[in-house]
Amino acid sequence: MVKKIFSGVQPTGNLHLGNYLGAIKNFVDLNNDSQNHCIFCVVDLHAITVSQDPKELKKNILETVATFIACGIDPKKSIIFNQSQVSAHSEAAWILSCVARMGWLNRMTQFKEKAGKDKEKASIGLYSYPILMAADILLYDTTHVPVGDDQKQHLELCRDIAQKFNNDFKVENFLVAPEPLIQREFSRIMSLKDGTKKMSKSELSDLSRINLTDEKEQIINKIKKAKTDIMPMPSSIEELSQRPEAKNLIGIYSSLCSLSVEKTISQFSGKNFSEFKNDLSQILVDKIIPISNEIKKLIKEKHYLDDILLKGSEKADKMASEKLKKIHKIMGF
Ligand code: AMP
Ligand code: TRP
Repeated sequence: MVKKIFSGVQPTGNLHLGNYLGAIKNFVDLNNDSQNHCIFCVVDLHAITVSQDPKELKKNILETVATFIACGIDPKKSIIFNQSQVSAHSEAAWILSCVARMGWLNRMTQFKEKAGKDKEKASIGLYSYPILMAADILLYDTTHVPVGDDQKQHLELCRDIAQKFNNDFKVENFLVAPEPLIQREFSRIMSLKDGTKKMSKSELSDLSRINLTDEKEQIINKIKKAKTDIMPMPSSIEELSQRPEAKNLIGIYSSLCSLSVEKTISQFSGKNFSEFKNDLSQILVDKIIPISNEIKKLIKEKHYLDDILLKGSEKADKMASEKLKKIHKIMGF
């Protein structure tokens, strides 16, 4: 079966190991399978749900494209574009916001986390964000959406919106309810400073994450300073539930080496964390430094990156506006 893949990444800077292991690595594998049609979107409209400096945003859009390519996405095989250049996304989001229910959005945990204590001061966009995400996905008849674990709830909402639209307007299967593609393991990489918190772009301490543009010394230093507990390396998988930092570091190692957690545990069982950390640093350096160097090289090739976005948005615009035209007809516009 031909899979139609769509995913998005916000151009908010500091793309990190969590983005890579949770999402982008999966994008690359999907891109490499010639059976798939892949679209990878730099979701700049999502980024402005919190305030952005326009100059920084522009830089971050290009940096996100450079990161996609440096990680192995081939712009000849996959469509890469930025959301703001295809106006159908905003328009479909409005139409779908008249289909989605307040009660559904009120359940979204990411809004609660991002809005924090002062919900009254959050932008309306931050609240309705999952509807724009549904529009992104549904405009392309997407069948599969590779994302990290934190996006699971948004995808369920997207499926609910598709079903309600199809029911309300009696157009069976017109909007395709997509399947999430979430890695079974390692779908949530945690902060290096607190194994109970997600590794995040917005965390103040840079020591909490490995950025995809970090230098060798930074990676080594961050792993050296990564929080652990006082016990030696665990000897069974059961121990991990009580030891979030050990669980996270072992997960990162296993994911990078394509090993099961059990194998990693038996390799390091009873050893000191320092020994494990040395090996982990080495693996990270081997994996991240070529990506980091490539990003830095590509960022200087502004015309090349602009051209990828331009060509990508032309292709995406054609597909999205065709679907939007059909939506207009169904709505009675
Ligand atoms: P964002 O940076 O929020 O646009 O996220 C881009 C992609 O990376 C999404 O598919 C997220 O689910 C994924 N992602 C972000 N942070 C993490 C993390 N700490 N662990 C795993 N996946 C993540
Ligand atoms: N909401 C996603 C995130 O924060 C980004 C995103 C926007 C997305 N539109 C999407 C992901 C469509 C998958 C499909 O990470």
